[in-house]
Amino acid sequence: MAGEWHDVGAIDAVSEDMPLAAKVGEREIGIYTIAGKLYAIEDVCPHAYALLSQGFMDGEEVECPLHGAKFHVPSGKCTKEPGGRDLKSYPVKAEGGRVYLKID
Ligand code: FES
Repeated sequence: MAGEWHDVGAIDAVSEDMPLAAKVGEREIGIYTIAGKLYAIEDVCPHAYALLSQGFMDGEEVECPLHGAKFHVPSGKCTKEPGGRDLKSYPVKAEGGRVYLKID
C-alpha cells in the first residue's frame, strides 16, 4: 500500500463546495478542489472527532463542523483553534475522470 496511487472516486464527486471523503485502509482523507486544483488532507479533525469534509468552505479554508477550528486546505495549516495542530497533506491527481491519492 505504501507509495502507491489509490483510485478514490470519480472527479465529478469533488466540487468547490463539496469535498470528497475518501478512505484508504484506515486513513480518512478529504479531497478538495479549489480554483481547479486538487488537494488532499487528513479528514479527521485533530481536536476531537469530526470529518472536515463535512465542514464549511471559506475561501481556501475549511471550518470544522463541530467546534469551528479552521484549516488552510492547500497547506494543511491550522489557522484557527481549537484544531491543535496542522494536517498532513497527501499527493493527489486526476486521471481519466478518476481521482488518485498517494499514501506514503
Ligand atoms: S472536532 Fe474539530 S474543532 Fe473540535
